[in-house]
Amino acid sequence: PKKIIIDTDPGQDDAVAILLALASPEEIEVLGITSVAGNVPLALTTLNARKVCELAGKPDTPIYAGCDRPLAHTLVTAEHVHGKTGLDGPDLPDPTMPVQDQHAVDFIIDTLRAQPPGTVTLCPLGPLTNIATALQKAPDIAARIREIVLMGGAYFEVGNITPAAEFNIYVDPEAADIVFKCGAPIVVMPLDVTHKALVTTARNEAFRALGTDVGYAVAQMTDFFERFDKEKYGSDGAPLHDPCVTAYLIQPDLFTGRFVNVEIETQSDLTRGMTVADWWHVTDRPRNATFMGDIDADGFFTLLTERLARL
Ligand code: BDR
Ligand code: CA
Repeated sequence: PKKIIIDTDPGQDDAVAILLALASPEEIEVLGITSVAGNVPLALTTLNARKVCELAGKPDTPIYAGCDRPLAHTLVTAEHVHGKTGLDGPDLPDPTMPVQDQHAVDFIIDTLRAQPPGTVTLCPLGPLTNIATALQKAPDIAARIREIVLMGGAYFEVGNITPAAEFNIYVDPEAADIVFKCGAPIVVMPLDVTHKALVTTARNEAFRALGTDVGYAVAQMTDFFERFDKEKYGSDGAPLHDPCVTAYLIQPDLFTGRFVNVEIETQSDLTRGMTVADWWHVTDRPRNATFMGDIDADGFFTLLTERLARL
């Protein structure tokens, strides 16, 4: 299996991404989960990560708390999407599993140094603060990363938190800039992909029909998540952004994209956090990321439902 660290700000869609990874031990070994401030403040994202691991029946998963604010800006949160707790929808019990003593950034650094080079994949599902801080503190780790597979950014879909920017990149564009320049192989799941991974009524019923705690909880999460997107975009169901990352690790052929140059806007007030992807290769800027553009949505939901049934 691929050894991964999930860096996350749960978030209903983060929760589903974590469940999918924990349900797939043949393909994915979760070395640890690192929390970051994003959808809600750090204390809540850390709490939610613990709730999700216990829901999955995997309380031995090590969880590390990370950075509580972006590198250069005040934290922007998304309670308007995820609810006050960040994980509104299901009523999950208070967790008893611990948070590790080590800081998430140090866990990321130590893990990359301890494991053979090129064997650890980073999976950021929130703002890139922890990953960038680790790269700043220990530049040697960049060359040891197998791949960074992240949810963030947009090209044709442009933005969701501002007209120009996607939430994860917008919250900490300075961090994103560091990550996109670090030299490690990067795969991006932008809104162009995730806005095609919609939980339609039928797909949500399939979760519920699993008849398990996990199936019900996921259905309740996506029910809650959907309210916002239906109202806001009139879309047929909530986009499951973050699970695209963990699905890619299991079945990469569900996705297609292009290896392009991606730069992050950090200066402009108007377009801060924009991912400027050279989709048509109109510059000579070096290619640094595989920017996905399409997904086999039916295949993705078949995989997800089948895997959730295992928990
Ligand atoms: C991203 O922002 C968060 O609200 C979601 O969890 C996802 O990671 C989508 O823009
Ligand atoms: Ca997220």
